[in-house]
Parts: sequence; structure tokens; C-alpha cells
Amino acid sequence: MASERTLAIVKPDAVARGLTGTLLARIESEGLRIVALRMVRLSPREVEGFYAVHRDKPFFSPLVAFMTSGPSVLAVLEGEDAIRRWRACMGATDPMEADEGTIRRTYAESKQRNAVHGSDGPSSAAFEIGWFFRGLDLA
Ligand code: CMP
Repeated sequence: MASERTLAIVKPDAVARGLTGTLLARIESEGLRIVALRMVRLSPREVEGFYAVHRDKPFFSPLVAFMTSGPSVLAVLEGEDAIRRWRACMGATDPMEADEGTIRRTYAESKQRNAVHGSDGPSSAAFEIGWFFRGLDLA
């Protein structure tokens, strides 16, 4: 399997709780390489564009409020099968449904405040990396 890239976000709930270092260390301990990294408080426009596929969902407006409530850490991860591996490490969206030992099972507070994000496939990874790391040389 070829090396691929995915976007990871440490969301505002996890940053506020001082989990940034723990979660970045977890990424590296899984054998995924961090090839780009930014800490930023996202604007409503950035979040609305990023989550545009969810704009008709009932949770969209509270999701935008949550994701703009404080700083997030954005990272591009690289490795073999990186998209699937990062999602497996995160666990299911709802922490109650996430497997034991996953990040969300361990740290998420709710379905919304779920600590981390990961791209769900190659085309969303390409879109999401480009959304936050426009023009950056990731070589
Ligand atoms: P994420 O994997 O970043 O993708 C979309 C986000 O929307 C998700 O994590 C949650 O933060 C949020 N979300 C998804 N479903 C729900 C829901 N049913 N209720 C509240 N928030 C949700």
C-alpha cells in the first residue's frame, strides 16, 4: 500500500483540556508522521467551508459554534494507509460507540465535543488538507 496523507484536527475541547501533547504523541506512537502542523482559532467561515457536507444537518450550527470556541491544532499526517489508521485510532464519532482504547472512547465528552477529527477517505483528505494548508510545501 502506498503512503498517503490525511488531515487530523485536535479540536477545541481537547486543546482546552491540555490534551494537545498527549494526542500528538499518540499519533507519532502509531507510526504516523506529522508533516505539517498549525495551531489556530478557526473562523466561522473556515469551519462552514470545511464542514460544508454537513450544512443541512441539525447539528451544523452548534458544530460551527463549538469549532470556533477556541484554538484547534491542525495536522497533516503521512504514512502507509494513514487515512484508515488514523480513523481507527480515533474511534467512532460517538464516544459511547467507540471501541475501548480509542481516543474518542478515552477523551471525548460527547458526539459533538469528540476531541479529534480525521478525513474519511482519499478525496476528503485532499480537500481538507488543501483547505487548511493552501500552498504549503509539504515535501
Ligand atoms: P467529525 O468527525 O469532525 O465530523 C463532523 C462532526 O460533527 C463530528 O466529528 C462531530 O463533532 C459533529 N457531529 C456529528 N454528528 C453529530 C451529532 N449527531 N450531534 C452533534 N454533533 C455531531
